[in-house]
Amino acid sequence: MLPFLRESRLKGDELAALVSKEHCYAAAYHAIAILERVGVISAGKQSAIEPHALARSHVECLAGTANWVAAARAQESRRPDRLFDDPLAGQLAGEGGFGWIAKRAHWVDGLAIRTRFFDDFLRDATRSGAIRQVVSLASGLDIRAWCLDWPEGVRILELDRQVVLAKKLHTADTAGYRGCPHATFISADLTAGWTHLLLDERLGFDPAEPTAWLLEGLLVYLERHHVERLLDDVAELSTTGSRLGIDLVSGSVLDPRRNFLWLKELREQGCPWRFGTDEPAALLECQGWDASVVALEEAERRYGRSSSDSPMQGSYYRFVTAYRKRCDR
Ligand SMILES: C[S@@+](CC[C@H](N)C(=O)[O-])C[C@H]1O[C@@H](n2cnc3c(N)ncnc32)[C@H](O)[C@@H]1O
Repeated sequence: MLPFLRESRLKGDELAALVSKEHCYAAAYHAIAILERVGVISAGKQSAIEPHALARSHVECLAGTANWVAAARAQESRRPDRLFDDPLAGQLAGEGGFGWIAKRAHWVDGLAIRTRFFDDFLRDATRSGAIRQVVSLASGLDIRAWCLDWPEGVRILELDRQVVLAKKLHTADTAGYRGCPHATFISADLTAGWTHLLLDERLGFDPAEPTAWLLEGLLVYLERHHVERLLDDVAELSTTGSRLGIDLVSGSVLDPRRNFLWLKELREQGCPWRFGTDEPAALLECQGWDASVVALEEAERRYGRSSSDSPMQGSYYRFVTAYRKRCDR
């Protein structure tokens, strides 16, 4: 293949189309960009990859991770002892999601436990009536807006990439889940300015009211400065009594000397893990949150599961919930 590429006058899009017969389209872009960077292939002065194509491919790769989680939810929903039932997960996951999970069965339990943990977090946060608005950042293909038993009057605002939200809304609509009047779906790039979209007064979000925030399955894919900016923005919009749920991997997992095979695979698939911390509570406490940390193992015990062969075993993976203390906004 490489001699062919050297002689080739194909553009990046055409190269990616060829390679994508073997791999997903977005991963193909990523692989070609790496080959160019290390000098294995060269397209002269100008890259074969248009910068916008690479950016688009990165969005597609990250959007694809929502299919993986949906596939895990579909598998969990089939178990007699399921932790939840997600009737649309199978359709939403599609071939891409099931293909990924088929080779990584050991991820399924951890993802299912995560879903249930944050279902419970959201139920608990809204149950007392003190919190009536929920903001899910990078909501992916979860269908909590339709299926979680929200108390009367709770509003849900979901933000994710347009391609992900469009797929979810289309699938829900086709399956007969018409209308979700208490939910609003906002297409956004959470690494760029997004708060103005949420603050659009027509959407009904009120920063003076407490909010339940969820950032599930997102932070690990972001650069540290994007994580810090995102958490700053969330803190800025959170009044006293707000609650926050996030999941975090340990920073030590990402140490290149550990050389985990599954991290390499994620890089090759175009969605590398980028952020982790060994001080999950401190990350939030410095911004005025009271944080509690639950390691995956503890959550497994809570739900009567064990994913001892999970890549995330050994307290590397944590769920953090936080309560906003008095803040002078
Ligand atoms: C692993 S999925 C998790 C989805 C969902 N929270 C769940 O647990 O099922 C990651 C999600 O983050 C979204 N995402 C990643 N980077 C984003 C960004 N910069 N702006 C908006 N969404 C982003 C992806 O589109 C994807 O839906």
